[in-house]
Amino acid sequence: MSNTLSPQELRESLVKRLRDQNAIRTDRIADVVAAVPREAFTPGVSEADAYDPGRAVVTKWDRDGLAISSVSAANIQAVMLEQGDPRPGENVLEIGSGGMNAAYLAELVAPGGTVTTLDIDPEVTDRARRLLADAGYDGVHVVTADGEGGAPDRAPYDLIEVTVGAPDIPPAWIDQLAPAGRIVVPLRIRGLMRSFLLVREGDHLVSRGYELCGFVPMQGAGEQRERLVLLHEAPKEEVGLRLDDGDQVDVDALRAALASPRQEVWSGITVGGEEPTHDLDLWLATALDGHARLTATVAARDAGLVASASPLGVATLVVGGTFAYRTVRAVDETRTRFELGAYGHGPAASAAASKLVDEIRTWDGAHRGGSGARIEIHPAATPDSRLPAGRVVDKTHTRIAISWPGDRP
Ligand SMILES: C[S@@+](CC[C@H](N)C(=O)[O-])C[C@H]1O[C@@H](n2cnc3c(N)ncnc32)[C@H](O)[C@@H]1O
Repeated sequence: MSNTLSPQELRESLVKRLRDQNAIRTDRIADVVAAVPREAFTPGVSEADAYDPGRAVVTKWDRDGLAISSVSAANIQAVMLEQGDPRPGENVLEIGSGGMNAAYLAELVAPGGTVTTLDIDPEVTDRARRLLADAGYDGVHVVTADGEGGAPDRAPYDLIEVTVGAPDIPPAWIDQLAPAGRIVVPLRIRGLMRSFLLVREGDHLVSRGYELCGFVPMQGAGEQRERLVLLHEAPKEEVGLRLDDGDQVDVDALRAALASPRQEVWSGITVGGEEPTHDLDLWLATALDGHARLTATVAARDAGLVASASPLGVATLVVGGTFAYRTVRAVDETRTRFELGAYGHGPAASAAASKLVDEIRTWDGAHRGGSGARIEIHPAATPDSRLPAGRVVDKTHTRIAISWPGDRP
């Protein structure tokens, strides 16, 4: 981006790019993105980076080098504001602070609304308080606390926007929500994170859509990281499985499986190179018992250990000492269309790869391009009989029921 653009031109150019990406869908969100100076919340960062639609500005790392605080990228901020649709006069709580998104929220709830932004880290809240005041948003309440407990003093909230990766929905968030209040939350289910719009219906929440997203992980009382078990490790060459929700696997057997020859099964179903397949991943995470995500370094892929080097992992079925993961192969010379398939390793490699491919076919026939999954989030004590049909994922505080069109009660 040219350095000669004025701040106003930078904001207008950002709005245009976010509209082109379909991150901005309404004039209300366009107007606030055009109004709030991003550079005021990203001191020390170049204007090109501050106005890069897809770039999060990391402000803090943990000892292992993992990002734990950032000003989120403009595209995900816009998408989540579209999901939450904050209205003038509303009372909004933001969990996970930085200042910038709180400024967008403050613009959207004016006149008459209130924004509380909360972070577990006092360095983050000190910075947010200072930057908000300097930019003229001193009406925003900045609170230092663990978001697990919400912010009871100003409840009930019309909207709670969570801007940190959440493994569960703590009871305080539902308790502090107005009767028909909304939560927008990057929720991790079976290793996949999606930003869900959830609406309160009595004691539970029901989804009204979801979007792809990535967020730093929740710290504090609700912290629950994914586990990574390594199936192969040599200098630079690592292959592992990401496990979520307390899932267990037989690591020794799976290490032996990886060392055995692979079996491949192809589906005959093709996708375009640019076509998003995140709904396929959510379908596989719903449909497969023994779901995990296979990750590998580039060196491990280049050494031929596995076919994919995705750091976030690819959908994998684990059955005892066998695993099979989703893969693709180009079907044309220009590498614009790819056939979906699966590679299996271990004693039941062909059967596991066939099972995964069966579910790819089910997705293609029943769910591709459809309305997607619907989730309901109920308190942990809810009996099965009160849950809708579909996959139930048990969390610490809640039971999450994931259903797809056509699921029978
Ligand atoms: C991606 S940043 C928030 C970005 C911000 N909303 C913005 O304006 O772009 C996530 C924040 O969540 C915070 N966080 C992590 N765990 C938390 C918890 N349990 N309660 C409150 N904040 C938490 C981190 O300290 C970090 O600052």
